[in-house]
Amino acid sequence: MIRSDIRALAAYHVQDSDGLIKLDAMENPFPMPDELRRDWAERLAATDINRYPDADMAGLRRTIAEHEDVEPGQVLIGNGSDEIIQMLLMAVDAGTCVTPAPTFVMYDLISRWLRRPVATVPLDSDFSLDEDLFLNICGREKAEIAFLACPNNPTGNLWPRQTIEKITDNFQGLLVIDEAYGPFADRSHVSMISANTVVLRTFSKLGWAGLRLGYLLGEADLIAHLNKVRLPYNINSLTQASAAFLFEHFSLFEKQAAVIRAERGRMTAALMGIGGIEVFASQTNFLLVRVGDAQQLFGQLLERGILIKNMHAAGGLLDNCLRITIGTPEENDAVLAAFRELTS
Ligand SMILES: Cc1ncc(COP(=O)(O)O)c(C=O)c1O
Repeated sequence: MIRSDIRALAAYHVQDSDGLIKLDAMENPFPMPDELRRDWAERLAATDINRYPDADMAGLRRTIAEHEDVEPGQVLIGNGSDEIIQMLLMAVDAGTCVTPAPTFVMYDLISRWLRRPVATVPLDSDFSLDEDLFLNICGREKAEIAFLACPNNPTGNLWPRQTIEKITDNFQGLLVIDEAYGPFADRSHVSMISANTVVLRTFSKLGWAGLRLGYLLGEADLIAHLNKVRLPYNINSLTQASAAFLFEHFSLFEKQAAVIRAERGRMTAALMGIGGIEVFASQTNFLLVRVGDAQQLFGQLLERGILIKNMHAAGGLLDNCLRITIGTPEENDAVLAAFRELTS
């Protein structure tokens, strides 16, 4: 009954984080202020959940379009950007999907679900991307779709503009530039949108991870076709009402992102000062570090109530690497204290 390749897959595992300082999933660590929660609850209470959600989401698309300075017809909304990755991989012609390695796992995983071949382009040891190699592999594989996470997860770096431009100028398939970490990066790629280049964004990292709201920006023709593989009511009424409300308070989340960026700078300097830790430059809300024994340190941090992400099992360039989401200043202090104690 169940396909053998699906049987062979491991289910996506989310580690239990009850009672822990949770720094494993690139969430915004700041809870919503109480007075905002009350107003938000009122807005939700006015939502008619006996009715199906607004399927077209004209209002939400207009709000996002204004926010991004594009036309509403250029916006496709998904239940998290994960769902949009799935829509893209369903809608694009059969053929290879190309991704750098290492990168965000869902490009590979969803391709497998859909029986789409995947070819990977290994990053250099400093996590740089060789654009000629990338284009050669795309050509060799006759790739129909490629993903570039800009900045990249889990490495945290943002490849130079010229690298991305060379790929957009020469790749013949659909190029998806995934800006999940856009709120923490120095550069956006929205100006690179073309007939075969789209930009994927999400509100998850900015503070709305629980809502599941992502969007794709592209040329209107392409977006209209992709919209045909979107389930009619993919964004529920509570998420739509919440997003309308939260957009009225958007500056709060932008201020929090600024604090996270500043904390990222502080954490980078402090971890580098400890010694014995390689800290990679990051344009995201997390830091990738390489330590002597990632497996052991991960376990010791867990014993001290700190949950980060152990990347060691992925091997290769991620040998002995840990990924630490930037938390509140207090949480970050706890991480630094534990690192100082455990690595000295
Ligand atoms: C590069 C990248 N893209 C997309 C996502 C998925 O985000 P969402 O919560 O919008 O599904 C993530 C989540 O970690 C990510 O790292």
